[in-house]
Amino acid sequence: MKHWGLDDVAWDRFDPDRVDSALVPLVKAAAMVERNGRDYATYLNRVFGDDADFRHAANRWADEEVQHGDALGRWATLADPTWDYEAAFARYRAGYVIQVDATSSIRGSRTGELIARCMVETGTSSYYTALAEATDEPVLKQICKHIAADEFRHYKLFYDHMRRYLQRENIGLVGRLRIALGRIGESEDDELAYAYYCGNEPATVPFRHDRCSAAYMAQAISFYRFRHIERGMGMILKAVGLPPRGRLSGLFTQCAWRLLQWRQRRYAQVLAAG
Ligand SMILES: [Fe+2]
Ligand SMILES: [Fe+2]
Repeated sequence: MKHWGLDDVAWDRFDPDRVDSALVPLVKAAAMVERNGRDYATYLNRVFGDDADFRHAANRWADEEVQHGDALGRWATLADPTWDYEAAFARYRAGYVIQVDATSSIRGSRTGELIARCMVETGTSSYYTALAEATDEPVLKQICKHIAADEFRHYKLFYDHMRRYLQRENIGLVGRLRIALGRIGESEDDELAYAYYCGNEPATVPFRHDRCSAAYMAQAISFYRFRHIERGMGMILKAVGLPPRGRLSGLFTQCAWRLLQWRQRRYAQVLAAG
């Protein structure tokens, strides 16, 4: 199946009257995180140095992530013609540096690395699904649908390789859960917060992690519906080796949904406090 490209997007259908202004800052931030994907491929190439198949797949994966960034960046420039995608990305690159010189996974094993990648793809697939459903702007809808489909496929890519390594490395359930939860917790780290800052605030304003993280997360959470969390939870459980459907999954989904609502209120408090 031929992968989509920027020329497949119906840019001429862009409708400024249907742009939800709450979405624009999120799209700007996401564009930069996505475009930075090549650094992760460099890191994965080192961690999986003797696995030519996986390295080839990781390089193709990074090409797709960069394209996600470019599609979102181009859309954000249509939505806000004063925005300079290249300049914002240059600022992001200068201030947020990924350690690419590791020779083994920061997750302790290759299985762990791939579980962490599954968590990222779970997050992105549900996020772009939520955005595609939330927006009425036809071009953004089309882009987010394309990206969400890619992210589900990326999850499967990392999941399949993870299963292969799991047979060799034999990481226990508790270890796999710990890695998964650890990576989910990192969603509050600088990567997104700093991207939000570079995309939406002038360089003359100093970066404040709490405010930028809260601004990004509070808005992002507002687009999630229960069904997105339900599907994402199934993917998380599958990646750690637990049944993706059933009572356990239902219970975890309820907890995650409540936790998300609670966190959104917390973020709103942070923003209100300035
Ligand atoms: Fe992506
Ligand atoms: Fe992805």
